[in-house]
Order: sequence, then structure tokens, then C-alpha cells
Amino acid sequence: MQRRKFIKNSALGVTGIVSSSILASSEEKNILPVSVIKSIKPMVVCTWHFQNATSKAWEVLNNGGNALDAVEQGVMVEEADPTNETVGLGGRPDRDGHVTLDACIMNHEGKCGSVVALQNIVHAISVARKVMETTPHVMLAGLGAEQFAYESGFKKTYLLTESTKKQYDEWKKTSLYEPVINIENHDTIGMLAMDENGDIAGACTSSGLAYKMAGRVGDSPIIGSGLFIDNEIGGCVATGLGEEVVKTVGSFLVVELMRQGKTPQEACEEAINRIVNKPNSDYKNFQVGYIALNKQGVTGAYAIHQYFSMTKNQDGTNEQIASDYFNKI
Ligand code: GLY
Repeated sequence: MQRRKFIKNSALGVTGIVSSSILASSEEKNILPVSVIKSIKPMVVCTWHFQNATSKAWEVLNNGGNALDAVEQGVMVEEADPTNETVGLGGRPDRDGHVTLDACIMNHEGKCGSVVALQNIVHAISVARKVMETTPHVMLAGLGAEQFAYESGFKKTYLLTESTKKQYDEWKKTSLYEPVINIENHDTIGMLAMDENGDIAGACTSSGLAYKMAGRVGDSPIIGSGLFIDNEIGGCVATGLGEEVVKTVGSFLVVELMRQGKTPQEACEEAINRIVNKPNSDYKNFQVGYIALNKQGVTGAYAIHQYFSMTKNQDGTNEQIASDYFNKI
């Protein structure tokens, strides 16, 4: 498809609300009508306050890049930041002292790639993309994923930093194994972007639960749980206690609810309700948050507890949006 020039600072750049009937009437599959394309304004959203990541993703979109490149390069900023102790380099280790990374990526064609419990590689998201683009598979795990990364040209990097090593040594004194709500007020970075063609892609990357059991895998590399994209409908990413997201296949659920006509906000709220309304749900002791973006550029965010937020960048400026939440008692 011929790339349309991104309309910057013009009246046509204002986000349009595009009815699904207009989208459905597009004669060429995956090509939006010109009237719709003119109203599309590229945008990116991510979980929490990772503004450097959304700025990077915005830069990619603003230069005419596609949504897949935007989300990959966006979350790579956090993977490379040793002060972010829940993602990539400097992520907190499992209870045996190993930093193991989970990540997945999904494009507008429904193609996806994922790595599970990957060690010694900073950019798990890029390895996930390589899995998607260069193998017949969707997921690679553990030593196989690490071997594949080296064969693909990634370099070996020791991911435990002085700071996380010190915290780990302190943790070992009690070895208390329990989830912490809103650890440092952030955890997984999940990102959704829509490019100038109206295509949506997403990425999700995390070092997972701090001091987890060796081999524990959360929601972040599981397509449908940590992330799901359906380019006809929209996308969703999750953050928080992965086990609870996996039990409800949260991101897929949000996208399917949007397909049924719910707004991104309503869909995120319904997905959180599914978790907290389970019999004997222990929701007071864990956090889960969702952000969603639909094909019309409408976003939503909802969490179990306060202090979850979403960062949005649609015109070069980051907007920090506090998420509504369930537990108001
Ligand atoms: N959401 C990250 C994890 O539970 O591993």
C-alpha cells in the first residue's frame, strides 16, 4: 500500500470518529477509504508513566514509520534503561537470582512472536519480533530462545545490576514470596500504536514478578493474555499480576468485548470485573490494569487499584492519564 504522508498540524489531522460501516465498506481488504485515512492521526499509548518510551514511538510514527516499528522501538527504551527494575536490563531476578524476561509482539496482520524466560539478552522484544518474522513458530522459551537470539546476532549481556543484586541479597534474608501491588507504581510496559495507515500493533515486555519461582511465566509473553491485536477492532495490553490476567485471557477478552460494541473503556472495565467477581477473588492483594485502543483511535484504561496510569502521545506531547479503578473502598 502506498504510504500516505502524515498530516501534521492540520485540520485534517484531528482524530475522526470513523463508523465501522465506513470501515467495512472499504473495497480493498486492509485498505481504508481515503476519507478515513485523512482523519487518522497516528498515536501511541503505553501502560504506566514510561514517557521516554512513548516519545520514541511517537518519533517513529511521526517520521512515517509503521506501528510495529514504533512499539518495538518504544519499549526498547525501557528494556535498555537499567533504572527500570521491572523490564529488561536491571530487571529484578527470580528467587534463584536469575533475570528472566518475557515479551511478545503482534502486528496488524495478526502475526505474533514471543519469548519466554529469556536470559542474558537486553531486548527481549526484538527477539520476539525475530521469532515472528524469521521462524515458523510463535513462541520460543528458555535456553532455546537464548540460543536463537545469539544465532540472530544479539549479544550476551549480564542483566542483574548492582542495584537489583543488592535488593535481591536483602530479599533473601526473609525470602518472603508475595506479589506487591503497584510495585514502584509501574511494572510491565505494554504499548499499542496506530500508524498513518490506521494499522495497529502492540508490544509487551517484562522481567515478570520479582523473586518469582524459577520457570514462572506471567501474562506478558502470552498472546491473548498480555497482549492482543485485531486490526479490524483494536488492541489491548495488560499489566499487573500475570496469573490473574492469564486466567481470564484478559487482552483477548477486551478486544472481543470491543468487537461486540463496547468502548475501550467499557471493555477494560468488564475485563477487570471478570477478575474481581471470581468466587473468593483475592483482588485486594494484587493489581491488574488494562489499556485498550480501538480502530477509531479511542482509548480506555482501567485497573483494580488506584495509581495505575496510561501515557498517551498523539501529537508529540505526552499526556499522563490516571486510570479509573475498581477498588474504591
Ligand atoms: N505482568 C507481568 C507478570 O505478571 O509477569
